[in-house]
Amino acid sequence: MDFTYTEEQEMVRQTVRDFAENELAKDARERDAEEKFPTAHVKKMGELGFMGLQVSPQWGGGGMDTIAYSILIEELSRVDASAGVIASVNNSLVCYGLEKYGTEEQKEKYLRPLAAGEKLGAFCLSEPATGSDASAMLTTSVRDGEDWIINGTKNFITNGTQAKVHIVFATEDKASGYAGVRCIIVDSDTPGFIVGRKEKKLGIRSSDTCSIILENCRVPQKNTLGSPEKGFSLAMNILNKGRIGIASQALGIAVGAFDAAVAYSKERVQFGKPIAAQQAIQFMIAEMDVRIHASRYLIYDAASRKDRGLDFSMASARAKLYAAETAMFCADKAVQIHGGYGYIKDYPVERFMRDAKITEIYEGTSEIQKVVISRGVLKG
Ligand code: CAA
Repeated sequence: MDFTYTEEQEMVRQTVRDFAENELAKDARERDAEEKFPTAHVKKMGELGFMGLQVSPQWGGGGMDTIAYSILIEELSRVDASAGVIASVNNSLVCYGLEKYGTEEQKEKYLRPLAAGEKLGAFCLSEPATGSDASAMLTTSVRDGEDWIINGTKNFITNGTQAKVHIVFATEDKASGYAGVRCIIVDSDTPGFIVGRKEKKLGIRSSDTCSIILENCRVPQKNTLGSPEKGFSLAMNILNKGRIGIASQALGIAVGAFDAAVAYSKERVQFGKPIAAQQAIQFMIAEMDVRIHASRYLIYDAASRKDRGLDFSMASARAKLYAAETAMFCADKAVQIHGGYGYIKDYPVERFMRDAKITEIYEGTSEIQKVVISRGVLKG
């Protein structure tokens, strides 16, 4: 496979890197400490086309391929993983689903402002009692004339307090399992739509994560996304794409930690020479380098399969599983190379370590990625 970057992909890397280093980097530590959502930066990301990079120009997006999208999320996360997930959820879990499954009317009303970054989107699948076992959800959608009446609680919703457009999953018939799940677009100003508790998190602290409570929320049935009976498989298909985004976020965290560790190892002198001259440090750097490259190739394999119209569910699960482990590995080694300085907040590597962990958890835990991969292998 040839993954030589196109001019467009190189241009995306340079544009995002400039933005991340010149604008995101400045206050990333403060935003993390204060759990402050990067409102002004997200607005700028919208103006730069980062919030709908792959959406067709017909709907106001950048019309780019999935490798360019991976580069976007990697470069944001290399500096600020919170910005990475904010963009990833909007691009993958919301815009992608709306463009693939939406009606022209839904695209005009919802996709266009989301792709332009004028509105932010969220994906409401998880519930307090159902995380990995997503189809066991308790939130209900009951038909009433031309409308749905939705009741229930969703939790761990990224972008939850900020988003104006929510992709909500609810069951119309719990007894029929995943076949009962419906996917419904809900505006945040719908009566009965309540933003719940904002979570205090270990990492990605400047992205917001909250619960969403739906109390007799009346939404027109024309807001159903895709065919009603395919709601659950639509969630799974959207998550296949989302996992490329989170794998790219993990890659960005790994690269950020790696770059910081390499620079520090050249500056820090112990025993009369830079610690980079010690084989113990060199071997850590080599192991980080290999895992970063392997992650990138797995991500690009998934991205290129998607862009060629092939099934990419196993490929995106492989990429997310491996890149998330790589983020944890590289952040851990980067802290180790920094020694005591790695453990304090003057250096960014402790933040990378805290941010890395979530990539093994959201959009399907590492164990769920192994379920997806092993099922694919065993069915032959
Ligand atoms: N791709 C496409 N379709 C898939 C799929 C995949 N990866 N996995 C399952 N499906 C389809 C199946 O084909 C089947 O549909 P059909 O009958 O139409 O073919 C349907 O989904 C049901 O499949 P299963 O019987 O395999 O379902 P299951 O109940 O055993 O669950 C699971 C499968 C893989 C465990 C799934 O529940 C899962 O992925 N769980 C993890 C959920 C998750 O990732 N949550 C993340 C929350 S969102 C988030 O984190 C967002 C955020 O804010 C950052």
